[in-house]
Amino acid sequence: MARILLALMCLSGWSYSTCLQYHYVADQKTWTEAQTYCRQTYADLATIGNKEQNDQLLDTITSAGQSSEVWMGLYSTIDWRWSDGFSGVGANYSNWRSDQPDFNAAHDLCVAVRNVWSDELCSSKRHVVCYNGSQLDPNVFFVNSSETWPVAQKYCRENYVDLVTVTNIKVVKKIYSETGGSQVWIGLHRPPNFFWSDGSNFTFSNWDFVHNNLNSMKVICAVTSSTMWGKWKFLSCEEKLPFVCYSMPHAYRLQLKITSGNSALDLNDPAVKKDLLKKLEERLKSKEERKVTLKWRNQQDGKVFKKLHTVVDSNGPEDCNGDYV
Ligand SMILES: *[C@@H]1O[C@H](CO)[C@@H](O)[C@H](O)[C@H]1NC(C)=O
Ligand SMILES: *[C@@H]1O[C@H](CO)[C@@H](O)[C@H](O)[C@H]1NC(C)=O
Ligand SMILES: *[C@@H]1O[C@H](CO)[C@@H](O)[C@H](O)[C@H]1NC(C)=O
Ligand SMILES: *[C@@H]1O[C@H](CO)[C@@H](O)[C@H](O)[C@H]1NC(C)=O
Repeated sequence: MARILLALMCLSGWSYSTCLQYHYVADQKTWTEAQTYCRQTYADLATIGNKEQNDQLLDTITSAGQSSEVWMGLYSTIDWRWSDGFSGVGANYSNWRSDQPDFNAAHDLCVAVRNVWSDELCSSKRHVVCYNGSQLDPNVFFVNSSETWPVAQKYCRENYVDLVTVTNIKVVKKIYSETGGSQVWIGLHRPPNFFWSDGSNFTFSNWDFVHNNLNSMKVICAVTSSTMWGKWKFLSCEEKLPFVCYSMPHAYRLQLKITSGNSALDLNDPAVKKDLLKKLEERLKSKEERKVTLKWRNQQDGKVFKKLHTVVDSNGPEDCNGDYV
């Protein structure tokens, strides 16, 4: 790859920190409205990356005198799938118990069946029903030993086709007549799909041990409160609640002018941008003790860089007199 010559980087007010600042907003909004407000006014809805930040957010709502639930930036999408990947007619057949799926403590991602269905902890042990033959009219096989869902899946795949897929009431009845009503794993499960509004990785959680009734919702949004001791749970994103935004008080938007000796070099090439960011971070690392994170910011045309001059003065730009790194 072409070598990049960094002629000069002009920085003003260079200062930064990894600390977030939380802002309680009393207006009652749906989760999406709250997100829009936070993005316009601060950085985004609150992201919580560790216990210290969770305590800090709890302090923020407590000092604001807010004791009921507030939105934060976490949401989850509900995407049920069959273990064998079946997605044809009947793939969305269901037979939930009236109080299910309840996503207890935000942990239950696998489905067990007696005569009606409930979502359960995938690591808990249940008897198993495997199938072979067709999905719409399967041969079902009861496995008389208690296994976790992943072990049950592996066993069924090795010995039959897969965990049973249930597409109609006939299959429900077939299963019941084999199992005599003991609770069994079927092939239905879903990925956890936890996301922060600002795109941060989901690494820390602080679930409340309560039911999070999913009904037929496709997306659910997280709340916390001081009466829950800062624990989290999910509600319908359409509820209107106060919320917490965050800002990065010491994050700065910097403009960068780059002089390249190679006029054919496309600075908007993802590989070039990545390389450039790495070089800048290395330079900062050698100058600063604290951690610095750099990100490119797209302009309105969706690109990071705009070409200013085609012909570059070999002495570099001279209209820059700030500190530079
Ligand atoms: C199942 O999916 C079909 C489309 O594949 C849709 O028309 C139908 O409404 C869905 N049924 C339920 C109960 O969600
Ligand atoms: C299903 O499995 C049973 C028991 O292993 C076997 O006898 C039968 O031939 C299989 N049927 C199909 C359609 O694979
Ligand atoms: C499962 O096995 C136990 C003993 O291991 C037996 O008592 C029980 O009847 C079996 N259940 C079925 C449905 O075969
Ligand atoms: C987020 O997680 C992915 C996958 O584990 C990892 O590759 C990536 O580096 C993480 N990003 C940050 C900012 O930690």
